[in-house]
Amino acid sequence: MATNGTKKHVATYTDAQPTQISSILSGGYHHPLLRQWQNERQLTKSSLIYPLFITDNEDEETPIDSLPGQKRWGVKKVVPYVESLVAKGLKAVILFGVPLAEDAKDPYATSADDPNGPVILTIKALRVACPDLFIMTDVCMCEYTSHGHCGILREDGTIIREESVRRLAAIAVNYAKAGAHCVAPSDMVDGRILAIKQGLLDAGLAHKCMLMSYSAKFSGNLYGPFRDAAGSAPSFGDRKCYQLPPGGRGLARRAIARDIEEGADGIMVKPSTFYLDIISDAKELARDLPICTYQVSGEFAMLHAAAEKGVVDLKTIAYEAAYGCLRAGATLIITYFTPDFLDWLDEQ
Ligand code: PBG
Ligand code: ZN
Repeated sequence: MATNGTKKHVATYTDAQPTQISSILSGGYHHPLLRQWQNERQLTKSSLIYPLFITDNEDEETPIDSLPGQKRWGVKKVVPYVESLVAKGLKAVILFGVPLAEDAKDPYATSADDPNGPVILTIKALRVACPDLFIMTDVCMCEYTSHGHCGILREDGTIIREESVRRLAAIAVNYAKAGAHCVAPSDMVDGRILAIKQGLLDAGLAHKCMLMSYSAKFSGNLYGPFRDAAGSAPSFGDRKCYQLPPGGRGLARRAIARDIEEGADGIMVKPSTFYLDIISDAKELARDLPICTYQVSGEFAMLHAAAEKGVVDLKTIAYEAAYGCLRAGATLIITYFTPDFLDWLDEQ
């Protein structure tokens, strides 16, 4: 440092390396608006899909310990809650049924499409209460089967493909008949997209029900809080023979290509942050379809745990995770942060 008027020579590399005009980037993001202009895709309220857990106990409103801020809802309680979110700009929900009644589970997931079950009753109630809300339903059997697996099983515990896809198609068609705008099968049984599309066509509903495939759904360690919330942990074994292995990028690409061929109207990658390369692959393979990603329960719980420990700031990290997904190629995000984002996006 130069002091007392004495000039000290500070070496620079100006002469050795003249500044290139193209080296100067900071002019492009010095202002908050400019930083938004740098986003190829913007996070907006219409990018967000909110997952809801609905029980068969119509007055229930029980906090889920493993998912901060999330609750298990009965149909009577969920409707006013969703109305309050719609008033803040909520555009879409995805419904999960949580049957609690003692006799609700059997090997065929009979209660999945019970006309008096939580999912079908909630579709109908929300269609009336929130006519502009887009209603999606997860289609799977694990919440409703006695064994907790996502299909109908042989004695050796493996999935009977043909019987399972027929049952899944029937469930999906019944949700569409009840008024779901979109059915999203998460079971990962081969061939279910074709079976569901055919089922929707035969029922005269294919033109008014979107088919969003959980095409690239990986098995791993990130669904624990969901399985607690939904009571859907398998009673034996695991889901590794139908959900994809975490390193299986090629399998994911094949599943995405197959599901486009089988009639999917949208492609989902799940989980999100650990699978950004797969989102990018989905965007490339399914460039003409909407790409959705599911920031799953374990991701949400981890970010909350890290924030609680003071490792990250919750709002900042939630945005950073969402922008990772958008950057990779998704335009839709299923996230438990949706109610927070509805508030946060208003602050900007
Ligand atoms: C049902 C289903 C699961 C999730 C969505 N649909 C659980 C699973 O496959 O075990 C996970 C969602 C989450 O963890 O938030 N098959
Ligand atoms: Zn399942």
